[in-house]
Amino acid sequence: MFFLTVLLMIPSVSVNGDKFPSLLTRNATLAVVIDKEFIPEDYDMILEAIQKYMIYAKREILIHGGINVFYHSLATINVRKELTAIVSLTSCEDTWRLFNAAREENLLFMAISESDCPRLPEGEAITIPMLQNGQELPQLILDLRTVNAYKWKTVIILYDYTLERDMVTRVVSSFTRESSDIQISGASISIIQLPSLSKTSDYNNALYKKLSVINTHSVGTNFLAIVSVDTMQMVINASKTLGLTNTKNQWLFVVSDTNWKHDDISYVTKSLKEGDNVAFVYNTTLSHPTCVGGLRCHVEELLKAFMKSLDSAITQESESAIQVSDEEWEAIRPTKTGRRLYLLQNVKKHILNYGVCDNCTRWKIEAGETWGKEYEKRGLRTEDKLINVGTWRPSDGPCLQDELFPHIAHGFRRKNLPMISYHNPPWQILRLNENGTVIEYGGLVFDIIKELSRNLNFTYTVYVTDEESAESITKHKELGNGQKYNVLEMTDLVTSNIPNEIIRMVTQKKVALGACGFTITDSAKQLVNFTNPISIQMYSFLASRPRKLSRALLFMYPFTTGTWLCLATAVIVMGPVLYFIHNASPVYEYKGIPKGKGLSSPQNCIWYMYGALLQQGGMHLPHADSARLIVGTWWLVVLVVATTYCGNLVAFLTFPKIDIPITTVDELLAHRDTVSWSTAKGSYFNTLTKESPLPKFKELYAGMMKGNIDFDQMLYEVEQGKHVYFDWKTKLVYFMKKQYLVTDRCDLTLGKEDLFDEKIAMIMAPDTPYLALINDEIKRLQQVGLVEKWYQSYLPKKDRCFQVTRVTEVTNHTVNLDDMQGSFFVLLLGFTLGTIWLVGEILYTSYKVKKKEKLHPFVS
Ligand SMILES: *[C@@H]1O[C@H](CO)[C@@H](O)[C@H](O)[C@H]1NC(C)=O
Ligand SMILES: *[C@@H]1O[C@H](CO)[C@@H](O)[C@H](O)[C@H]1NC(C)=O
Ligand SMILES: *[C@@H]1O[C@H](CO)[C@@H](O)[C@H](O)[C@H]1NC(C)=O
Ligand SMILES: *[C@@H]1O[C@H](CO)[C@@H](O)[C@H](O)[C@H]1NC(C)=O
Ligand SMILES: *[C@@H]1O[C@H](CO)[C@@H](O)[C@H](O)[C@H]1NC(C)=O
Ligand SMILES: *[C@@H]1O[C@H](CO)[C@@H](O)[C@H](O)[C@H]1NC(C)=O
Ligand SMILES: *[C@@H]1O[C@H](CO)[C@@H](O)[C@H](O)[C@H]1NC(C)=O
Ligand SMILES: *[C@@H]1O[C@H](CO)[C@@H](O)[C@H](O)[C@H]1NC(C)=O
Repeated sequence: MFFLTVLLMIPSVSVNGDKFPSLLTRNATLAVVIDKEFIPEDYDMILEAIQKYMIYAKREILIHGGINVFYHSLATINVRKELTAIVSLTSCEDTWRLFNAAREENLLFMAISESDCPRLPEGEAITIPMLQNGQELPQLILDLRTVNAYKWKTVIILYDYTLERDMVTRVVSSFTRESSDIQISGASISIIQLPSLSKTSDYNNALYKKLSVINTHSVGTNFLAIVSVDTMQMVINASKTLGLTNTKNQWLFVVSDTNWKHDDISYVTKSLKEGDNVAFVYNTTLSHPTCVGGLRCHVEELLKAFMKSLDSAITQESESAIQVSDEEWEAIRPTKTGRRLYLLQNVKKHILNYGVCDNCTRWKIEAGETWGKEYEKRGLRTEDKLINVGTWRPSDGPCLQDELFPHIAHGFRRKNLPMISYHNPPWQILRLNENGTVIEYGGLVFDIIKELSRNLNFTYTVYVTDEESAESITKHKELGNGQKYNVLEMTDLVTSNIPNEIIRMVTQKKVALGACGFTITDSAKQLVNFTNPISIQMYSFLASRPRKLSRALLFMYPFTTGTWLCLATAVIVMGPVLYFIHNASPVYEYKGIPKGKGLSSPQNCIWYMYGALLQQGGMHLPHADSARLIVGTWWLVVLVVATTYCGNLVAFLTFPKIDIPITTVDELLAHRDTVSWSTAKGSYFNTLTKESPLPKFKELYAGMMKGNIDFDQMLYEVEQGKHVYFDWKTKLVYFMKKQYLVTDRCDLTLGKEDLFDEKIAMIMAPDTPYLALINDEIKRLQQVGLVEKWYQSYLPKKDRCFQVTRVTEVTNHTVNLDDMQGSFFVLLLGFTLGTIWLVGEILYTSYKVKKKEKLHPFVS
């Protein structure tokens, strides 16, 4: 079985199209493609030179193997599988066409082409453009663009006399050239010609005038300045003055009139400031009689490099082949792509190390490292110098060791930014160990800073101020390690004034960021810059939750007091009225009917009417129609009253009667006789109400209780409905939670209105260039909802106090003893009154008896 597998595997290996005959068994093949139209004058000379050189190379360089060379013109070339490599001398367009045709075959492509031609993909081919001395700029700019050193969609080209007229067009086309072969798309371009140094006397003014028209919103933020060394300084100075350098704008200075003798531009570092993105490409071309160049030189150099690489490939393969068996060799020998890569790397290495053709033409690429430099510790600060980004040569193009704009690509490049902070939950939460050193930074501010440091690539050290934080930190220490932050500490919040210590550190640039949540106030804005608000705090107030009124007198609720009084009056008045009519009626005498005993006195009549009211009907109906009319209409009244009462009573049984709550400032002001109010001392709310143009807030400010607040007492009074407390909603929620945990009741509620908003932000130095950068990041974090999510995690969890609504109570009320108690009280009252009356009657009777005895003492 094992053998079978092996047998099956071997053919599958040789069938694999990627495998290419070994260099050991078959000669390598090289196709040389020369387009006669590309080099009409030199064609014969070059062809002859190549042929001669190949004969020499076969003999002297390729010692370990053989090579078959075929010469083609553009028309006759047929890219076949067996080809190892192609050397082409064609125009740019033809080079790309040929390359695309040959791309499938994974062969090594070496092109010598015209200038301003995008180089073939780095990993697959070698391109050498033929440049004329002093005309390398367009190629250089195109090359930087192809390797994505800058990814510009727009560019503003500033140039002075160092860029000749026809070169301008070529430079522009380097930017606009679109190519589907390489992943670059064109940029939109604005061109500004700078005044000529010699002609204008007041050069600086002319320069300012030219640059001041630039509106970076419409033309973009990328600048390519092709200027002379002397102009460069002035352009840098002018761009500084006009605010054209900042953390987003990119400046690439191309200086062509430096040379190997005067190639030190490190003095520009003095003009660079924090937050700049400035890169320099400058001419370090050597002029020396030993400098060589030209087409023939390049062709020969390329062929030499190729032959050497081929020889080393053959040597390597034969060495490997000797060490293993034939079958194993079949399995491990390089694929065609593998061999191409090997050859390509070797050819490149050879040109890099030993290439002499046009080696004198060299440009140096450097960039200013500026971000975060200011905040480096004085002792540790590295010397101001440009970072070496790379070099450029015609034969191998840009050779970059770093990013052209290091800060655009890598932000602060892991610079350490100092910050200042203090304990102030939930904005900053500093965790201490038992020795009192901060071991962890938390809270909303540090959640944001951690994300910023990841996105902007910086590290940070935090200075903790003692002045303001001492109190809360000691408090925290007592709580012990690892314990969650106590809601009590919310009361320590300093709402507005920023400590002087922090302002001083920030404005003197001792720290890059005041990593604390501060209220944005107009007065503080004069001193420092605030970042975008990280949170917006609403002011509201804490009041007692409206309570259900006692249901003892529920049976009284259906009628208002007035109705009850009217009813009572009606009963009392109707009694005598009935008595009068009943007695005045002559019917009884006429008919000789005795008057009923029941209606014989006004009291009896009142009781009669009362009985009728309760639908109990008196025993004695008057005989006279006049009196019957009175009784009859009374029954009608009773019917209406009783029905209304019953209906209303049912409604009151179902809907609990709620106290009138205080939910708005207007309601609070309406209750000002019974309710007092206050806010935290030094709170921004005080200032806001004081300055508010609305009369109700002025009243609120005038009525505000001043003085220190004992929070426990205050909360108790709020619970009792005697006090209302104004503060941030967040803090009030903490208070509610705390009180719920203490009393297990939901007695507190928040006002319905959001009164003022207070914006919380971090602070930075007034002239810091990074404000916009940090603001953008904060904005992004807010847009994806992270800030809100972090913030929510510092709020207390929702408990039942947040959920209780009246609706659920209403739909689910069953009548209980509470609702009924009133009627029992009335019964008790009646019982008591009856008893008292009884006692009264007894006492009266015995008094009367005694009095009789006194009058007739001898009768008994
Ligand atoms: C291989 O190349 C050598 C020269 O390098 C040549 O002499 C020889 O004839 C070639 N062999 C084949 C089979 O083409
Ligand atoms: C670069 O410097 C050399 C020598 O100083 C000069 O010949 C060449 O013209 C310069 N290149 C450009 C593009 O000006
Ligand atoms: C540019 O500004 C720097 C510092 O502000 C100054 O030293 C230098 O002389 C200025 N250079 C020119 C050419 O104005
Ligand atoms: C090419 O030029 C660079 C710098 O000008 C030099 O260091 C290097 O030795 C030169 N290479 C050759 C092969 O001459
Ligand atoms: C941060 O900066 C360092 C140093 O320049 C760099 O190596 C690294 O790639 C950067 N990280 C990111 C995410 O940009
Ligand atoms: C606290 O300080 C003591 C003595 O100074 C030391 O032994 C201990 O390791 C420190 N603890 C921590 C957590 O750093
Ligand atoms: C920063 O503060 C300065 C002065 O304090 C002010 O002029 C400037 O407008 C502020 N910048 C921003 C973006 O608020
Ligand atoms: C009504 O109250 C009962 C018991 O108190 C409870 O089980 C039921 O879920 C409540 N129904 C509604 C709709 O709230």
